[in-house]
Amino acid sequence: MQLNEQSEHTSRHQYKRPIDLIGNTPLVEVSCFDVGPCRLFLKLENQNPGGSIKDRIGLSLIEQAEKDGKIKPGGTLVEATAGNTGLGLALAAITKGYRLILVIPDKMSTEKVNHLRAMGAEIILTRSDVEKGHPEYYQDYAQRISESIDGAFYVNQFSNPANPLAHELTTGPEIWEQSNREVDAIVVAVGSAGTLKGLTNYFRKVKPELEIILADPEGSILADHVNRLPLPKPGSWFVEGIGEDFIPDQFDDTLISRAFTITDGESFAAARTLLRKEGILAGSSSGTLISAAVKYAREQTEPKNIVTFVCDSGNKYLSKMFNDFWMADQGFIEKEQQGNLEDLITRTYSERSVITVKATDTLLHALSKMRMFEISQLPVVKDDQVVGIIDEWDILTAVEKGSETALTSLLEPYMSTNVVAVTVDEKLSTIITLLKQGLLVIVNKDGAFHGLITKMDYLNHLRKKLT
Ligand SMILES: Cc1ncc(COP(=O)(O)O)c(C=O)c1O
Repeated sequence: MQLNEQSEHTSRHQYKRPIDLIGNTPLVEVSCFDVGPCRLFLKLENQNPGGSIKDRIGLSLIEQAEKDGKIKPGGTLVEATAGNTGLGLALAAITKGYRLILVIPDKMSTEKVNHLRAMGAEIILTRSDVEKGHPEYYQDYAQRISESIDGAFYVNQFSNPANPLAHELTTGPEIWEQSNREVDAIVVAVGSAGTLKGLTNYFRKVKPELEIILADPEGSILADHVNRLPLPKPGSWFVEGIGEDFIPDQFDDTLISRAFTITDGESFAAARTLLRKEGILAGSSSGTLISAAVKYAREQTEPKNIVTFVCDSGNKYLSKMFNDFWMADQGFIEKEQQGNLEDLITRTYSERSVITVKATDTLLHALSKMRMFEISQLPVVKDDQVVGIIDEWDILTAVEKGSETALTSLLEPYMSTNVVAVTVDEKLSTIITLLKQGLLVIVNKDGAFHGLITKMDYLNHLRKKLT
């Protein structure tokens, strides 16, 4: 059964609904990575209508539950998800008229969560830093919620056979045909292990000698499990949607010949290269997959056709992996070290990346900037020098008497001058003393404003030295 045949309307009305466009994603060859004697192909799962590989299972999980009589018209679905399964389920749920409740770990990108809310899903955020068995662990939490709602169906992608089945019936055959039956290795990562199990089930039948390569984020235990190493204490990682702190029930390693552990830094670098060199805006996990594919390819002495996935779109990660400031703050982009206070400053005034206001701006302008950039204080600049700072308290003081027209006043009389300027050569110990006095520390270079050092910059600097 092909996915297109799963929806009862499709044969009569080709592609009438977004869910009819799920699957049959393109396979493209990329050449921007050094893959030795091999060729590297990417299956663009980001082109599914809900934006990820999980659209395939969203539809399959719901349609199988309908067939099994587990959901009634207008019923409630509950799922634990890193976000993409939620989007796949939401797409099918809105088409079919179900209520959807999703439990999501709080490390997931705001873009995904906002997207889900905007699709009408009810979102419960839970802790990312707890392991299976803890009451706030996202899967345990979702199960409890489903049990508390009459007639609700806990979708449970982690042990629902309709998850791997979607990949066995669609993803596998598509790769086989699109590669002209010449695929030698497929690189996969594992969340629920549905993709891995579905591909394993399919290729065991058509090409049992196919190699499956596991790409696993550093901190996950799956690569060590495959490599028969003692299981480490699970760590944490930034890449979303893949890696586990337990062995999923569906984890089938019969075709896995190799497992690679990939750091967040390697994943982000690969995804950024893919965008710069090929114009493909892929999510963070695609970087993990490509890094592992490249490592595997370079080990080969014979030419091999390697297929891996762009599992979702990078537009969900624009504020993180594709944001140079976030990358620098997290230590993924190394600046050339100057051995002075410049090393603590990620946003510089000369690059126009410090958000400031002018002394001649109004309070309303300052308030709008605070809202736009979600910050609570702004340096006030006059002739390229910081002359003060304006924060929410200063604005509240100005409007104390309840007159909103005060907002149109110039801000200069209301700003505080609790700022102190130092040069880039000032000692770090002086900075901590100044910060403890509650002063805003302005760093000048060659006589002009260079950047700020906040408490967070100082702490970030110490944290980066630890890693
Ligand atoms: C973002 C994302 N979600 C999910 C998956 C696969 O997950 P699963 O093991 O649940 O099929 C991948 C695989 O690479 C992924 O990158």
